[in-house]
Amino acid sequence: MPLETEARAQVRALIADLKPNDGDLLQALHRIQHEYGYISREAMEVVAEQLGLYAAEVYGATTFYSEFRLEPPPAVTVRWCGGPACLVRNGRGIRDAILATLGLQELGEQTADGRVGTWLGQCNGTCELAPMMWLEEHGHWDEARVVGHLTAARAVRMARALRDGASVDEVTRG
Ligand code: FES
Repeated sequence: MPLETEARAQVRALIADLKPNDGDLLQALHRIQHEYGYISREAMEVVAEQLGLYAAEVYGATTFYSEFRLEPPPAVTVRWCGGPACLVRNGRGIRDAILATLGLQELGEQTADGRVGTWLGQCNGTCELAPMMWLEEHGHWDEARVVGHLTAARAVRMARALRDGASVDEVTRG
């Protein structure tokens, strides 16, 4: 067993109540991602130990579900909605404008300084806000700010401000 580090001890405390059975694996991963914004190799090892699984099984589950991140999240993530209601309201134009502003080729990439990342989001049923995107800081998707009724011009303004260091609060104010 690897040496117990402070980081490992913290992860272990976070999932100490979970028992070795399949049902707890996703819960463990969700807790870790919620706390750290991503799931490190070290955290996966602790989960495997706690739940009596092989590290490869934990790695397999983590990579299977697209909501889990394997790397630390960027400071801000722009999650673009790729659902049908957003697409018919110039969703693709908005996506391309955001990517161009950030100097990126496709969703999933992030700026070289790690400041702004992009992500493909799924429709969550709030299509009355289409076209929309979510802005979230440090991978905390459950605290994402929804920005609806977007135009390409507004998306570009926001992406530019985020790229230049503004917070989600600042770009969504007013
Ligand atoms: S399609 Fe974008 S919120 Fe439903």
